Amino acid sequence: MAKFNIEDFIKPSINQIEKYLPGKSADFGNKDFIKLSSNESPFTAPKRVFQKAADLLISSNFYPDGDSILLKKSLAKKYKLESKNIVCGNGSDDILSIIAQTFSTEGCEVICSEYGFIYYPIIAKAAGCRVITAQSNNLGVSCENILEKINNKTRIIFIANPNNPTGTIIFKEELIKFLKKVPKNIIVVLDGAYSEFITDKRYTDGIDLIKDFENLIVTRTFSKIYALAGLRLGWAYANKKIIELLEKVRGPFNVNLIAQNIGMLILKENNFIKNSIKHNDKWRKILPERLNNLGLISYESFANFVLVKIDKKKYSKKYILNSLQKRKILVRDLNNYKLFDFFRVSIGSSPNLNKFLKEIELIVR
Ligand SMILES: Cc1ncc(COP(=O)(O)O)c(C=O)c1O
Repeated sequence: MAKFNIEDFIKPSINQIEKYLPGKSADFGNKDFIKLSSNESPFTAPKRVFQKAADLLISSNFYPDGDSILLKKSLAKKYKLESKNIVCGNGSDDILSIIAQTFSTEGCEVICSEYGFIYYPIIAKAAGCRVITAQSNNLGVSCENILEKINNKTRIIFIANPNNPTGTIIFKEELIKFLKKVPKNIIVVLDGAYSEFITDKRYTDGIDLIKDFENLIVTRTFSKIYALAGLRLGWAYANKKIIELLEKVRGPFNVNLIAQNIGMLILKENNFIKNSIKHNDKWRKILPERLNNLGLISYESFANFVLVKIDKKKYSKKYILNSLQKRKILVRDLNNYKLFDFFRVSIGSSPNLNKFLKEIELIVR
């Protein structure tokens, strides 16, 4: 009789997956640690959005609305879209994965950017695709290099805009030029996880583009500006035909009851969003300045984190990150992104960032 052998079951591409490493966390609930490693919101959502949660939990014997109809209506109203153009997910990573499953064929190619979000190669490989990496340009996504990698096996292109972990952006003009050059039988996924933070008029979150580009899908999340990372809620918009396919592939009840309800309520919290953007805008300017003054190299970011390079001749990254951790400050090492001289620091609360700056100054001086 044949023996159980795990190798018999797996697609070769699954063997190539490197497990996703989340940003470092202290022991759960350990409030002594300052966590600046996962681009979470430093603010808790207003208490009133959680008020109904306990009552809703009591009806957990029933399934939630599998189609998230009310949530879609709220999103449609807020973002001036139509419900039929929206799909909801258990975090945007759920939707990204559904997209990979839906549009890949065995052995097809998926293009990702060097220094792009590390989950894209994972889901592409899980779906049996070959991952093609387009070289980045100055740490940003290079549309030109992506276009050069396109061939008749290409099925999906994943781009985060702004990009995580480098914080770079593709402005609307360049994006449209790029989209015009991508053949329409290739799905372009624009991941707008950090879209809400951007106030620059040269940027588009892509809502205005889906009518012209039928192959475009934009993914969004409630984990960043909406401060609901722990709840797991994401969504995407695209033309109706794409949404109908994603709706078929997703789990039948992929968004839980609490996430649907709290998601609807947080969308109404305009002041909370406005203040979060204001806070982020202030710190995304101050933080690189202050870090550069310390002799580190920090870059302009359009998102809620800042990329920092360490001059190997002057400092040891390992020493800096270990010293920060000893002082109970967690940032994101980027070795698994092959950014060996870099780390990423999330824009936390003002007291936490001041503490981070004070401690890192003591460490490097
Ligand atoms: C670019 C990008 N896309 C997607 C995600 C996943 O977000 P979610 O919490 O919605 O799954 C992240 C998380 O950090 C991200 O940085």
